[in-house]
Amino acid sequence: MSYKDIYAAWRAAPEDFWADAAKGIDWIEAPQTVFDADADVYGRWFVDGTCNTCWNAVDRHVEAGHGDRLALIYDSPVTNTKRQITYAELQDEVATLGAVLSGMGVGQGDRVIIYMPMVAEAVIAMLACARIGAVHSVVFGGFAAPELATRIDDAGAKAVISASCGIEPGRVIDYMKLLSEAIDIATVKPGGCLILQRDVQRCELVEGRDLDWADAMAQARAEGRRADCAEVKATDPAYILYTSGTTGQPKGVVRDTGGHMVAVNWTMKNIYNVDAGDVFWAASDVGWVVGHSYICYAPLLAGCTSVIYEGKPIGTPDAGAFWRVIADYDVKVLFTAPTAFRAIRGQDPEAALMADYDLSGLQSLFLAGERSDPATLQWAEEHLGVPVIDHWWQTETGWAISSVPMGIEALPVKHGSPGVPMPGYDVQVLDDEGQPVPNGTLGNIVVKLPLPPSCLPTLWNAEERFKSSYLNDFKGFYATSDAGILDEDGYLHIMARTDDIINVAGHRLSTGAMEEVLAHHKDVAECAVVGKADALKGQMPLGFFVTKAGVNRAEADICGELVKMVREEIGAVAAFKMAVGVNRLPKTRSGKVLRGTMQKIADAESYRMPAAIDDPAILDEIKDVLTTKGLVG
Ligand code: COA
Ligand code: AMP
Repeated sequence: MSYKDIYAAWRAAPEDFWADAAKGIDWIEAPQTVFDADADVYGRWFVDGTCNTCWNAVDRHVEAGHGDRLALIYDSPVTNTKRQITYAELQDEVATLGAVLSGMGVGQGDRVIIYMPMVAEAVIAMLACARIGAVHSVVFGGFAAPELATRIDDAGAKAVISASCGIEPGRVIDYMKLLSEAIDIATVKPGGCLILQRDVQRCELVEGRDLDWADAMAQARAEGRRADCAEVKATDPAYILYTSGTTGQPKGVVRDTGGHMVAVNWTMKNIYNVDAGDVFWAASDVGWVVGHSYICYAPLLAGCTSVIYEGKPIGTPDAGAFWRVIADYDVKVLFTAPTAFRAIRGQDPEAALMADYDLSGLQSLFLAGERSDPATLQWAEEHLGVPVIDHWWQTETGWAISSVPMGIEALPVKHGSPGVPMPGYDVQVLDDEGQPVPNGTLGNIVVKLPLPPSCLPTLWNAEERFKSSYLNDFKGFYATSDAGILDEDGYLHIMARTDDIINVAGHRLSTGAMEEVLAHHKDVAECAVVGKADALKGQMPLGFFVTKAGVNRAEADICGELVKMVREEIGAVAAFKMAVGVNRLPKTRSGKVLRGTMQKIADAESYRMPAAIDDPAILDEIKDVLTTKGLVG
């Protein structure tokens, strides 16, 4: 069937479509109700089903006789380590770790924070939580202690799983120090921490709080303790993943168990066109949604082999690193962010390093996380000689809202467009009053409710925020906060966020959160942060500040302090390196800071004078300051 037919079939009978997809999953109690429109905020999927994600991702493949198949390949150029784990070995690891967690008092429904680098144990930890019905919340390693503390508190963490260190090129990240700082700051004190000691840098454990991963696993094995797969409701949360909102308080996106499995399992064949036994590589991080769905869950649900890569596209050791991994493991599909390819292209514009590797097994490259610039996409197409598919999605959905569904139909790729809406998503473009705009016109991209399986049913402990963030602006629709166009062929074009989220190297960051940090500086009266275009990272934060009256310090000193504060409060991942002092911020007459106009000035784009501007002269002041500092364009 063509994409058009399948999309039409979903539209005509969405419940039949998802009931059919649900057959790809082993249920403990098969759901009799596919969708209950009256449940919770906008309805719930598979309300009366029960299941276990770890069973579906691991045990069922072993039961089916595939225990010897590789489940995980860990490749770490930063530690010079490689490890391969079969499905049978993975089952042993997760069953044992599940028992260790139970021994730490973690039960069904309890929240476990996972703060780990890109090691196989991070995925094992996620699966072990799923096995015993605990709800994990993975925190990206590039976040600083206060961000970790916020998540420990909001999730009400019962336990933390972490490691002695992470490794970034040129420096070792002391996870233990960050974890201890976070626990000090947090109001909720986790009952215990399980720490993976890494040879690169071991750490001292805190007595009474910490358990050594290896010791605890060895003890459980010696005692023959293994955890079975718990029966959980399809609507129970599988995990909480915090993502940037408009304020410093991150949003806890809730993923349900059954719908998540059904949807992401469906994508493996239909979107990525891979089958059991194929090698799938998402070069992302388990701390992001791409890592949850496509390093951990979906490839394993589908019986594929998933690559866990602890390295960078460049510098570990060179811009040929991705080609090496593809060749070494016969990767069939690679999924990464455009910024990774911009980095590779920047260092090796002719892709000369590709010549050293056999990439004939690669079938396609998928890109997401930020807008793909057509030049990078064309470069990848030309040098790899495979389809390069840009697809659009969000932490909130857990899978692509739009794509070219390679397993259904290799529709023509349009450069600059992340494809067509996937079944499950009725995507529309509305003006600010909620009226549909004609094809080809820029507007607010919305998805008609109900959202398909895997999409967030709510925010953790924040139902009102869920409604106000996503559902109240356009009645009956989910507001994506992306602006864009639906063209005459039904392809989407994602142009910009409509809120103050920016995308830095494929990482989603809140400028509002950075402003909260800057505003705490003793000399800062007012501030604004915008996303300035960047050739490598897509965007980089640029901070403006006005000092309090009477402050007479060198601007460079204040800038240095602000950069340090953001690094310590939010983390290195914010990549906040540019701050400029200005005399005044441009505002509307009602006092709203004109961030959009400031961003356009920084990017040397043309702009219309905002009608409600209080004092147009301030825009020239901003332009002068940025020009003097070489920060325009
Ligand atoms: N733990 C600790 N620190 C981390 C980290 C982690 N897991 N990941 C990144 N950081 C640090 C980096 O070391 C860097 O620190 P620095 O300011 O001291 O240099 C900072 O956070 C910013 O990192 P990043 O934005 O990733 O930039 P980079 O210069 O290290 O690398 C790229 C640039 C393009 C190579 C890199 O961003 C990349 O590979 N991106 C792929 C994008 C991706 O995976 N996106 C996920 C969604 S698909
Ligand atoms: P995250 O929740 O981190 O996945 O970030 C989601 C946001 O990243 C989206 O709302 C978009 O703004 C942006 N994004 C993700 N994928 C794409 C894409 N393919 N094209 C354009 N923007 C994208």
